[in-house]
Amino acid sequence: MATVYAMTTLTPLPPLADDLEFLSIVSEWDTEAPHNQWSASTLVPATFRPADPARVFVVTNNKGGVGKTTTAVELAAAWAAMGLRVRLIDADPQNAAITYWLGVEYPEGLPLAQRYNLRHVFLGADPDPQNANAPVREVTLDEATYPTKFENLYVVPCGADLARVEYERTTGTDNTLRYAIAESKMPFDVTVIDASRTMSLVTLACLIAGDDAIIPVKPGALDAQGVLSISDTIAKIQRRENPKLRVAAILTTMWEKTNLAREVEEQAAEDYPDAIVSPIRKTTSVGEAPATHQPTRLHAPRATAVADYGQVARLLLNPVRVA
Ligand SMILES: Nc1ncnc2c1ncn2[C@@H]1O[C@H](COP(=O)(O)OP(=O)(O)OP(=O)(O)O)[C@@H](O)[C@H]1O
Ligand SMILES: [Mg+2]
Repeated sequence: MATVYAMTTLTPLPPLADDLEFLSIVSEWDTEAPHNQWSASTLVPATFRPADPARVFVVTNNKGGVGKTTTAVELAAAWAAMGLRVRLIDADPQNAAITYWLGVEYPEGLPLAQRYNLRHVFLGADPDPQNANAPVREVTLDEATYPTKFENLYVVPCGADLARVEYERTTGTDNTLRYAIAESKMPFDVTVIDASRTMSLVTLACLIAGDDAIIPVKPGALDAQGVLSISDTIAKIQRRENPKLRVAAILTTMWEKTNLAREVEEQAAEDYPDAIVSPIRKTTSVGEAPATHQPTRLHAPRATAVADYGQVARLLLNPVRVA
C-alpha cells in the first residue's frame, strides 16, 4: 500500500552563496609557517578519493559534545541542498537530538503504534497487546524513514527506547543496520548516521553499516586524546567486522585560531594521511539552530560554519554527482 504523506509544502534548503568566506584548500600543511602567518585551511591530500553515490557516512567520536549531531545535520542539509536525496539516521538514544532538531512528518492519520523509529528496525514492532500469540513484526528501514519539512531530507527518528536494543539483543544484531540499508528500496543518494558517543551495540551496528567515518573533534587537550581512542575502535572494526570502513574526514569543530587547534589538525593528518582535515569555524548561530527546528544552513545561510560544512560536503562526494 502506498504511503500517503501529509501535504505540507517542503522548504528547499538554500544553495551556498558563492561570495562566502571559504577556507582555502591545500594538499599539504605549511608546517613551517609561524603562528602569526598561519591561516585556517582545509587539507585535501592528493590520495583522498571522493565517495561514490549510495555511500553511508557515519559521524562518530566517543567524546561527548564535539559536534557529532551538528556535523550530521549540516552535512545532510548541504547534500540535500545540492539536490541529493539524503536519509539521516538518528542513532543516539540519549539525546535523540536530530529527532528534536528537525522533527519528522508522519503520514496523516498514522496511528501512534505505527510510528516507527530506529528501535523498531532493530527489534521489530511490539506484538499486539490484544493478542498474546501475535508474533513480533519485522520493520524495514524504509518503514521507519519519514520526510522532514525540508526538500530531499528524510529522517529515521529515535527515542530513549533505542536503549532496549542493548538488553533485548538477538544474535546478528550488530549487522542489522547494514542489512537494513542494503535491503532498502527507497532511492537515497546518501545515508548519514549520527552515532552515539557510547560504544553500545547500536553504535557498533552503525560503524559496521558505514562506508566512511567522519570524526568531529573539538580542539582541546582531552579531545586530542579523543581522536586516538576512537582510532583504536575504528582500527578494530576495520580488522574484524567492517574492512571497508575508512576515515574520510576529521573536522575540528568550534574552531578558533589556537596552537592547540593546529596541533590537533597536524596529529589528525598524521594519523589519517588520506583523509580530509578541515576546521569548522566557531559560529554562534550553530548553537541557535536546533531550537529553530531548521539546519543552520537555513537559519543563518551566511554563517561561516555553513560555508565550512558546505565545502566539506562538496569535497566528500564525487564532483560528477554533485555538480
Ligand atoms: N561550529 C560550531 N560553532 C559553535 N558551536 C558549535 C559548533 N559546532 C557545534 N557547536 C555546539 O556545540 C555543542 C555540542 O554539539 P553537538 O550536540 O553537535 O555535539 P555531539 O558530539 O553530538 O554531542 P553529544 O555527544 O552530546 O551527542 C552544541 O551546543 C552545538 O550547538
Ligand atoms: Mg549528539
